Amino acid sequence: MSIFVMTLARHIIEQERKFPQATGAFTKLISDIALAAKVISHHVNRAGLVDIIGSIDNQNVFGEQQQKLDVFANEALIRSLRFGGTLCAMASEENEDYIAISDEFPRGKYICVFDPLDGSSNIDVNVSIGTIFSIFRRTSPDESPVTKEDLLQPGYSQVAAGYVVYGSSTMLVYTTGTGVHGFTLDPSYGSFILSHPKIKTPRKGAIYSVNEGNYNLWDKNVQQYVNWAKRSESGMKSRYIGSLVADFHRNLLKGGIFLYPGDLKNAKGKLRLLYEANPLAFIIEQAGGRASNGKERIMNVQPMELHERTPLIIGSKDDVTVAEEFFQGKHQG
Ligand code: AHG
Ligand code: MN
Ligand code: MN
Repeated sequence: MSIFVMTLARHIIEQERKFPQATGAFTKLISDIALAAKVISHHVNRAGLVDIIGSIDNQNVFGEQQQKLDVFANEALIRSLRFGGTLCAMASEENEDYIAISDEFPRGKYICVFDPLDGSSNIDVNVSIGTIFSIFRRTSPDESPVTKEDLLQPGYSQVAAGYVVYGSSTMLVYTTGTGVHGFTLDPSYGSFILSHPKIKTPRKGAIYSVNEGNYNLWDKNVQQYVNWAKRSESGMKSRYIGSLVADFHRNLLKGGIFLYPGDLKNAKGKLRLLYEANPLAFIIEQAGGRASNGKERIMNVQPMELHERTPLIIGSKDDVTVAEEFFQGKHQG
């Protein structure tokens, strides 16, 4: 019996064939990201056995305590992407400024922005964490130096987006705009195998995910939405892991809504537009869901800063619509 295995590498090549002008660089780029994901997965699964747990006496650009695995994952992605010849620039949550690929290395036309390790607070308690990436084409002419505008493109300009979730298994989920596809890492031969083809998220779910510890900091419309979600007639139950990728992945497969609203302390919330909200918004829309900042489609927002934050409501289409009505004071609950 022939066992035909669809690997990530084969799948990307098939996707690439749909774009006649593609040069194979895109295939290499996703493969480079997958390689970094395997390296990070190997270390995540050995955390606790090797000295990779705990924080370093260093802070990231936001003054947040950096975890060793944050730094390791960041280095793994930068090293895997820097010399591949597919990028002209990259940006990371862990680096204040973007990284232009200097002209001593082969350069390409793509830009990759990423959150190398999402859910850092969960690393040393063995809870699922992730990596999130977003890919654009440069807008400036190929031979000119990269500009900040090349990186500050709205979400609808993404050519690809994806995430890796390091959980009970390691999965890579990505889209190039023709559906959402999930691959599970088979560590026995180190390949990502297609396990979830053409993922579609239910139109309505039964899960809401939000950090209710911020309740007293929310405006009353947000409070009214969560009060409504808690009532039995909403048919919803609460699930919150505290790792965006893990909460998102569960809701993508089962249906539901994730919210990180703005609050009195952070008017634009905690999550970042470029490498958390936008890539997941591309995926959820391709899976039939929605992503909003409470007022407008996330992927329409014009970024002004590399690390700018945004309120985020993301998940099943009907659930996001109801939440937006509350956020805009149109739903009396
Ligand atoms: P990161 O570890 O990349 O900084 O992201 C953490 C984010 C996200 O993963 C999660 O949804 C959110 O922080 C949880 O924040 P709270 O602990 O405030 O709920
Ligand atoms: Mn994150
Ligand atoms: Mn992070």
